[in-house]
Amino acid sequence: MNPQISPSILAADFARLADEAAAVAGVADWLHVDVMDGHFVPNLTIGLPVVASLRKHTPLPLDCHLMIADPDRWAPEYAAAGARNVTIHAEAATAPVRTLRMIRAAGARAGLAVNPGTPVEPYADLLPEVDMLLVMTVEPGFGGQPFLDLVLPKVRRARELISRHGGEVWLQVDGGVGDETIGRCAEAGADVFVAGTAVFGAQDPAAAVQRRRSVAAAAAGGPGDGSGHG
Ligand code: DX5
Ligand code: ZN
Repeated sequence: MNPQISPSILAADFARLADEAAAVAGVADWLHVDVMDGHFVPNLTIGLPVVASLRKHTPLPLDCHLMIADPDRWAPEYAAAGARNVTIHAEAATAPVRTLRMIRAAGARAGLAVNPGTPVEPYADLLPEVDMLLVMTVEPGFGGQPFLDLVLPKVRRARELISRHGGEVWLQVDGGVGDETIGRCAEAGADVFVAGTAVFGAQDPAAAVQRRRSVAAAAAGGPGDGSGHG
């Protein structure tokens, strides 16, 4: 699969979300929406009403990353609100299989995320329930943090687990992904790249998306242009 870029609106101007989304609309593959509840992570961002509003103002599919304490309760509602992908955290879900199935039943892709300190191997048996595995490359909660190199071996192991499983599961990385780190992530096997600061902190967010995609594609050994949908 060609690399896909999911710009995170956490680094955008929250008072101008529709404009910020429009700045990457023709070039990004997704819009990454970081939902934080002040419990699972020490930060509070946006929730269902904003997702429902954004849905009406951007053609980009919404990639909702739920950093919340009770994803079992809320994840299906994000799918119902129009999210195209809903990712829950393995550390927070008490019934991940049921919740992942409910996300799919509501018409969205189902994502499962692991924090830097959480091993991926215990979730190998869940891969048939998952459309995307998210390996966090920072501790979740804030944008603009430095990339954690120590997670790269886990990205490789996650790619191996996916290959062994044989199904089509995307492998996303999130946190500190920019010019300097995206190539290493692609080389380790990631194919969906969240970038907050590296896109919305740039003068030209659309050009920043294109540049990241080319670097990722070159590192993965594929073509660097096109929509990213392979
Ligand atoms: C962190 C969030 C990320 C964040 C990434 O908890 O999940 O999506 O926006 O931001 P950057 O790319 O600035 O590290
Ligand atoms: Zn995120």
